[in-house]
Amino acid sequence: MSTKLQMKNICKYFPEVVANKNVDLEVIKGEIHALLGENGAGKTTLMNILYGLYSPNAGEIYLDGQKVLIDSPRAAIRLGIGMVHQHFMLIPSLTAVENVILGMKSAKSPRLDLQEAAARFSSLAKQYGFNIQPWVKVSTLTVGQQQRLEILKALIRGADLLILDEPTAVLTPQEVDGLFIMLKKLAIKGHTIILITHKLKEVMSFSDRITVLRGGSVVATLKKEDTNPEELSKFMVGREIIEEYAKASYNPQDLVLELNKLSCNSDRGLEALKGIDLQVHKGEILGICGVDGNGQTELVDCITGLTRVTNGEILLNGENITNMHPREIIDRNVSHIPEDRHKRGVVLAMNLIENIMMMDYYKPPYAKGIVLQWKKIESRVDNLINDYQVKTPSSKEIMNNLSGGNQQKVVLGREMTRDLDLLIAMHPARGLDVGATEYIHKKIIEVRDDAKAVLLISTELDEILALSDKIAVIYGGEIMGIVTPQVQIHELGLMMAGAKKNQTN
Ligand SMILES: Nc1ncnc2c1ncn2[C@@H]1O[C@H](COP(=O)(O)OP(=O)(O)OP(=O)(O)O)[C@@H](O)[C@H]1O
Ligand SMILES: [Mg+2]
Repeated sequence: MSTKLQMKNICKYFPEVVANKNVDLEVIKGEIHALLGENGAGKTTLMNILYGLYSPNAGEIYLDGQKVLIDSPRAAIRLGIGMVHQHFMLIPSLTAVENVILGMKSAKSPRLDLQEAAARFSSLAKQYGFNIQPWVKVSTLTVGQQQRLEILKALIRGADLLILDEPTAVLTPQEVDGLFIMLKKLAIKGHTIILITHKLKEVMSFSDRITVLRGGSVVATLKKEDTNPEELSKFMVGREIIEEYAKASYNPQDLVLELNKLSCNSDRGLEALKGIDLQVHKGEILGICGVDGNGQTELVDCITGLTRVTNGEILLNGENITNMHPREIIDRNVSHIPEDRHKRGVVLAMNLIENIMMMDYYKPPYAKGIVLQWKKIESRVDNLINDYQVKTPSSKEIMNNLSGGNQQKVVLGREMTRDLDLLIAMHPARGLDVGATEYIHKKIIEVRDDAKAVLLISTELDEILALSDKIAVIYGGEIMGIVTPQVQIHELGLMMAGAKKNQTN
């Protein structure tokens, strides 16, 4: 076993933040090395240094025993390093093969030979068992396929050291299995893989060794066989994590949200929801469970006014809000934790105060007439940063400088500390570390115990089962049935695959 990569004594400072401090990382050729740590621990920063996106303030990098200087992604690629970022960087209007060769030199330079590239694409895709055609438009690919395309892109560029930053956060459980089968294949062929993830189950099933970062420094490097999830949690956040939550007994009260025969079309004009009937009461968490892409996005978009309802109606506290303007719906005390935080959750170029106050700054107590009440605003923002443990040097930091999980905490805090009757939470724990996940789950239960209505949409079965009072299974734009959290997993699985409830009994 030879050493593929050594990062020695890496330090990286941002204004007022020490992101990496004397980090030593050693990765063995052909292994899957998991990089763990709580939100803001410095994982992405360390990998951005390896990929030449940041230059470190101190430290050295050795590849195959040779000291290297990586001052740009181009230099990293030349050295055989590839990185798949959490937010994909593909161009949707181009084909798969066009995306893959973007920015590469053709053998017959300067003219691009697409046919030749497509042939190489297909042969590599076949070799690694990727099921993607070169000529499909990227906009028609599922998230899982786009991710495989990103990996293929790195491989075509000759990467033998692959970095994946939270690759499974947006994948369905089936796609996760597929990804790891592929990563194992790559490792067997001699590729080396560094994997950032918050999911300890994945770490325990698929990694060979693990390095844990805390507060920018390495606290442990372990063999998978020598550790367990409890110990890893302790290394990451300093304590064990309990995934079972205390809840007041289920006592649903008045109806808050009612969907009657709700239908709508998708972006592409196909029928995405086909007559959905659902009810959410005060004091109730209704979980929507299903494989991604079965109408969940459209369901939330209809309720929040972002997509046109073509048929049926939506009642909120008895009032018909069908096809109302999103702002009017938000003003009726509807909180929304969106699926894509970059698209709908935050404005990256604005600071924390602006992001937290964007829905409320013009309302009392934060404004008197047109005069902003800065003391009130600052106290709300500071409390939120404190309660949700948002890691930031100040409330004036722009969102873009926060780590992924800390951006998510800002969105969660903003939506959950507003006056609300209905909380719509879509993948609320996406990108959060184990400690923050536990905290947010407790908060969602508090909202429900406080007699509010909660609609929880998630592809994580564990999350749905731990929080929901009732579970509606969605498939192909229809509700397959409504069950309790005591349901057999097997039955849930059948419904998620399209079997109606009465057919599964
Ligand atoms: N460009 C930047 N400017 C200023 N501060 C930054 C910048 N990038 C990262 N930071 C800070 O460095 C620290 C480490 O961030 P990093 O993104 O590496 O964390 P992470 O371990 O990847 O966390 P997460 O699990 O939330 O993705 C954080 O405190 C973050 O706010
Ligand atoms: Mg990160």
